[in-house]
Amino acid sequence: MTERRRETAEEASSKPDSTNDQLLVVRGLKVHFPIKHGILFDRTVGAVQAVDGVDLDVPRGRTFGLVGESGCGKSTLGRAILRLVEPTAGNVRFDGVDVASLQGEKLRSMRRRMQMVFQDPLASLNPRQSVETIISEPLRAHGIEYSKKNRVREVLDLVGLPASAATRFPHEFSGGQRQRIGIARAVALEPELIIADEPVSALDVSIQAQIINLLEELQERLGLTYLVIAHDLAVVRHISEEIAVMYLGGIVEQTDSEQLYLTPRHPYTIALMSAVPVPDPAIEDHRQRILLSGDLPSPANPPSGCRFHTRCPYRQETRCDTERPELRLISPGHRVACHYAEEIVAGTVTPKVDAALPV
Ligand SMILES: Nc1ncnc2c1ncn2[C@@H]1O[C@H](COP(=O)(O)OP(=O)(O)OP(=O)(O)O)[C@@H](O)[C@H]1O
Ligand code: SF4
Ligand SMILES: [Mg+2]
Repeated sequence: MTERRRETAEEASSKPDSTNDQLLVVRGLKVHFPIKHGILFDRTVGAVQAVDGVDLDVPRGRTFGLVGESGCGKSTLGRAILRLVEPTAGNVRFDGVDVASLQGEKLRSMRRRMQMVFQDPLASLNPRQSVETIISEPLRAHGIEYSKKNRVREVLDLVGLPASAATRFPHEFSGGQRQRIGIARAVALEPELIIADEPVSALDVSIQAQIINLLEELQERLGLTYLVIAHDLAVVRHISEEIAVMYLGGIVEQTDSEQLYLTPRHPYTIALMSAVPVPDPAIEDHRQRILLSGDLPSPANPPSGCRFHTRCPYRQETRCDTERPELRLISPGHRVACHYAEEIVAGTVTPKVDAALPV
């Protein structure tokens, strides 16, 4: 991990919240997919509320982690930021410009500055294209002048692949190498922001570290800003300075990486953290694991009030069932969407007895 990433919680939280420092600012973003019914008349009978009111600030040149269980809306949020899916409401500002206001050439050039790296490199690379074509095609599509051979070689070198890889095809590479090709394709356009959607979850654990190191190295060399999406807390912790935890279409907690791990404040994050093993056996033996009851509810029919209330061990009647909590600042740089965050810290609101079990 780099020195820059070792910045303390205090330093990070004292940074000004000005839009200038933020490369990406998302406000009230919603993506609702209509549910259609009927053969003759395609009636809309409801909506999958995949993303429902998300605010995010991604600081320039840093790594922002977005974590949450499967189906909570992470990929949809990433795609909506890039306008690969049209938002239902809210806005996305990239480098101070409202992305929704852009059309034609301006939208194209904005897209060039934001690139995506996908979870499954094999599925996202055209099997019939050579590596040279895969890397050079986006350059051609964006009308960028370049010497094909030189640029492809340069980019392959950046991601740690030999120049000879250019004439080969995706199936000739291992999973880790294929992800390097996916990253090469993204960095070829010299973007400022990379949204990496589960960039290592399809890879063996031993390879995961290599790809994470590569992402960190590229950030150092190219000054990239990352939004890294993962369901695995360990992955985002390793790479991110700031982390947002997502639950059923909304952000429930956001703070810097150290603070989130040392002092999680939202009951959902507390439960996620309680499942992460602690290396110290003395602590591990006495640790309490918070078990969440039930599955993630359907985003087509989300619970009223706090969306976490159907699984929350700290749920209080009746406010939790009726009033949706705002994502609010509870201490410098630490935002939590829970009505009772302070009471939970003070111990005046405690988890239900059967929810906290010794490990
Ligand atoms: N095009 C679509 N039409 C309808 N529903 C969709 C569409 N895309 C996603 N969804 C639904 O929106 C919800 C959020 O999906 P999304 O893929 O964003 O979740 P995720 O957090 O990325 O999950 P995973 O960790 O499994 O990748 C899911 O219920 C999914 O079924
Ligand atoms: S608002 Fe209530 S239900 Fe929601 S997380 Fe806080 S205590 Fe739990
Ligand atoms: Mg996803």
